[in-house]
Amino acid sequence: MKKTYLKLKHILKWKVVMSFSRIWSIIRPDAAKFSEMQHSKYQKEAPRMAKVNHVQHNSNPDLWQIGYGPLILFPERFQGGLALDFACGAGRNMENLNKFSIFSQIHGCDISKENLEFAKKNLEEFAPKGNFKFFPVDGRSVINDTDAEKTIKYSFIFSTIALQHIPVRSIRNSILKDLHALLTNEGLLSFQMGFGGKQFGGFKRPGSVKYEANFTHARETNGKNDTRVEDPDSIIKDLQEIGFIDIRWFITRSWEDRHPYWIWIWASRVEIPTNTL
Ligand SMILES: C[S@@+](CC[C@H](N)C(=O)[O-])C[C@H]1O[C@@H](n2cnc3c(N)ncnc32)[C@H](O)[C@@H]1O
Repeated sequence: MKKTYLKLKHILKWKVVMSFSRIWSIIRPDAAKFSEMQHSKYQKEAPRMAKVNHVQHNSNPDLWQIGYGPLILFPERFQGGLALDFACGAGRNMENLNKFSIFSQIHGCDISKENLEFAKKNLEEFAPKGNFKFFPVDGRSVINDTDAEKTIKYSFIFSTIALQHIPVRSIRNSILKDLHALLTNEGLLSFQMGFGGKQFGGFKRPGSVKYEANFTHARETNGKNDTRVEDPDSIIKDLQEIGFIDIRWFITRSWEDRHPYWIWIWASRVEIPTNTL
C-alpha cells in the first residue's frame, strides 16, 4: 500500500513539473517579444542616452587601437567604401569614423528611431561636412527589404556596447548573419562584447547570463540582463558557422562598464593581412 502511494506521489510530482514546463514553453516570451521589450525601453531611454552619448568612451585607447584598429593598420582596404555602425545610439562612433576620412558614406542603424533622430542632430552639429545616412532596424535583423538596400555592401561594419545587451544567442546570430551578408568581399566587421567568467578569476558582470543562453524572458536591457562571453571559442564557432574566414580576438579591461573585461572581435570574409599586425 505504502509502495503504491509513494509511486503515485512520484508520478504526480513529475506530472506537475512536466505541465509547468509545458505551460512555460507556451507562455515564455519569444525573440519577437524580447525585441519589443528592447524597443520600448530604448525609446524611453533615448533622451538620457542622447545627452550622454557615451562620449566618455572616446577616451578609451582600446577603442582607437583595436576597435578602429583596422582603419589605422590597413586603411587602403576600406578607402572610398561605405561604413555601417550597428546600434549607433546618438552617433558617437559615426562621428569618430568620419574623422578617418576614409569612407564615402557612413550609415547608422538602431532599434530606436528616437536615437537615430538624436544621432542626426548631433552629426549635423559636430560633423556638418560628413556624409551620413540612418535607418531603423527591428532588433533581430539588419537588412532592409527594399531592392536598393539589398545591393548595399559595407567595407567596414562596427559596433560597440550593443551586442552585449542582447542576451539571446539566436537573435545575435541572426544579426551577425545579416552583417556578414552586408559586407563586401574584402569587408571587415569589428565589434565588442562583455567578457568574464571562470577562466578570468570568476569575475563577471552581476545579472549577466551565459553566452549560450536564449534569455528571451529578460525584462530589462542596456546593462541589466546582459550576455557575457566566457570563452572566445564559443563566439568564434558561431562566426565561422556564419561564414567568416579570419577571426581575431583581443581581451582588454572594460571601460566605464560593469563587465570586468571586454572582448573585441575582428571578423573578415577573407584573410586579414598579417604583415600589418
Ligand atoms: C549603450 S548604447 C551604445 C550606443 C553606441 N553603439 C555607442 O557605443 O556609443 C546601446 C545602443 O544599442 C541599441 N540597441 C540595443 N539593442 C539593439 C538591437 N537589438 N538592434 C539594434 N539596436 C540595438 C540601443 O538603441 C542603443 O542605441
